[in-house]
Amino acid sequence: MTHRRTFLKHAGLLAASLPLLPQALAANPALPLNGADKWRNLRQLFPQTPEVIHFSNFLITTHPKPVQDSIDHYRAELDRNPAKWMDWHSQSEWKREAEVRDWAARYLEVKPRQIALTGSTTEGLGMIYGGLQLAAHQEILTTEHEHYSANTTFDLREKRQGTKVRKLRLFDDPWNISTDQVLSTIDQAIRPETRVLGMTWVHSGSGVKLPIGQIGELVRKHNRNRDEQSRIIFVVDGVHGFGVENMRFAELNCDYFIAGTHKWMFGPRGTGLICAATEKMPAHLVPTFATFSEDEDFATIMTPGGYHSFEHRWSVGKAFELHLQLGKADVQARIHQLNDYFKQRVLDLPQLQLVTPLSSEHSAGFTFFRVKKQEDQDPYANYLIENKVMVDAVYRDAGPVIRTAPGLLNNEQEIDRALALLQKKL
Ligand SMILES: Cc1ncc(COP(=O)(O)O)c(C=O)c1O
Repeated sequence: MTHRRTFLKHAGLLAASLPLLPQALAANPALPLNGADKWRNLRQLFPQTPEVIHFSNFLITTHPKPVQDSIDHYRAELDRNPAKWMDWHSQSEWKREAEVRDWAARYLEVKPRQIALTGSTTEGLGMIYGGLQLAAHQEILTTEHEHYSANTTFDLREKRQGTKVRKLRLFDDPWNISTDQVLSTIDQAIRPETRVLGMTWVHSGSGVKLPIGQIGELVRKHNRNRDEQSRIIFVVDGVHGFGVENMRFAELNCDYFIAGTHKWMFGPRGTGLICAATEKMPAHLVPTFATFSEDEDFATIMTPGGYHSFEHRWSVGKAFELHLQLGKADVQARIHQLNDYFKQRVLDLPQLQLVTPLSSEHSAGFTFFRVKKQEDQDPYANYLIENKVMVDAVYRDAGPVIRTAPGLLNNEQEIDRALALLQKKL
């Protein structure tokens, strides 16, 4: 990195001559994203097959037009003359990254240099859970409800460094979850040796949304009596709340917020971020990868280097821009509205059990349910898929569930059609 910085001292002015983005990349898509047709117009920006009901966009997104246009633009430019865009004299790559951080920062309401750009939630989890420095006697406290990506990262860390990882069960029946119960379980479980608390905001095994902000307050309370070397570092896997909940980073009261931007956020596939509480690179964290960024602060030290699919990374800003244009509060309201509707319809069917909590206090964009008395939900999920309703069935901490994620590209009629179809098989 040093020689790259030296190069920069001679800073070339090439950047000024880089082509401006074409008009096609203008923020505002052709159809208005406000008023009564807002959600219908939004749908027009996505090339998803209309004859299929897509309830699984939480796995990975389709690219909306502004994002795809940006990818196409950069791809064409990179194909024409890749070296020009990698020219360190011009800081071209860094400028594009800075633009992405600016948009993400606007969304999260933080400073751009708090944000490292990653390739996925999994990559971010590996970099934080893997890179935090713990003394030999210190532990990571987490839950039994974490995703495979976090769990595997913990296993790898245990293997590599022998770090102790303790897992809490925060609830047995997701539909009965209570904030008091969650907070008191965590409160009682924290020990003097607890150095890291790791939680998932919205769980992809049950649909539960944890009161992350309140958990963060609890952590702060414990930290009042701790010095810098023993204070609890609060880490959040936020991927299924990001692009759903009307959030500001500061409200979560965490040290690190990790998320992919290629699910609910509609960013390019293969993108994500980590937002840290400060811009300064902390002493308690060691990077996993060599960066190709400026190497100056959290954002640029923790952004993994290597030459990437830059057309994707540089187009992440378009997704934040789109979400801000839709309005964070409206996005949250619409996704909750659809899920409330879906849940009520599930409750109307006596053969089904709603697994995700009913209240929006404890749920976000998931409506998970099961066919009662059936260990194996696959036949029902497969039947729906064969009939062009994209769902899936998993068996995790909450037992067997059929997973649906009604989001901004869905509507009430699709929910009715999916449940009418399922009823034929019950
Ligand atoms: C809670 C949770 N964390 C992490 C991941 C992994 O996400 P990514 O594909 O961005 O690595 C998933 C996958 O959907 C998930 O459900």
